[in-house]
Amino acid sequence: MEKAQQFIVESCLGTSCHLLGAEDLLAVIQHLPQEIKNKIDLQAVTCLQHCGKGPNIRINGEIMMNMTPERLLQVIQQNIAQIESCSKEE
Ligand code: FES
Repeated sequence: MEKAQQFIVESCLGTSCHLLGAEDLLAVIQHLPQEIKNKIDLQAVTCLQHCGKGPNIRINGEIMMNMTPERLLQVIQQNIAQIESCSKEE
């Protein structure tokens, strides 16, 4: 597994995000096919400082608020497509 072929997903596991559905976001990632999970560097963070707008997630440094499972899947697909297009250019 090449680290450069991954993108970073930081899931907020703080109390507010937990209450607003952070576990649903983690479930989305956990149920992805392994080949896609291998491209995700999943990390847990305790707070992204936007507690009232959770659940929040940070992907490649960009905080995304009010995240839904559906939108998270879209963002993951976009990042996978970007990784694949970059690896074809090399
Ligand atoms: S608890 Fe998630 S942003 Fe603060």
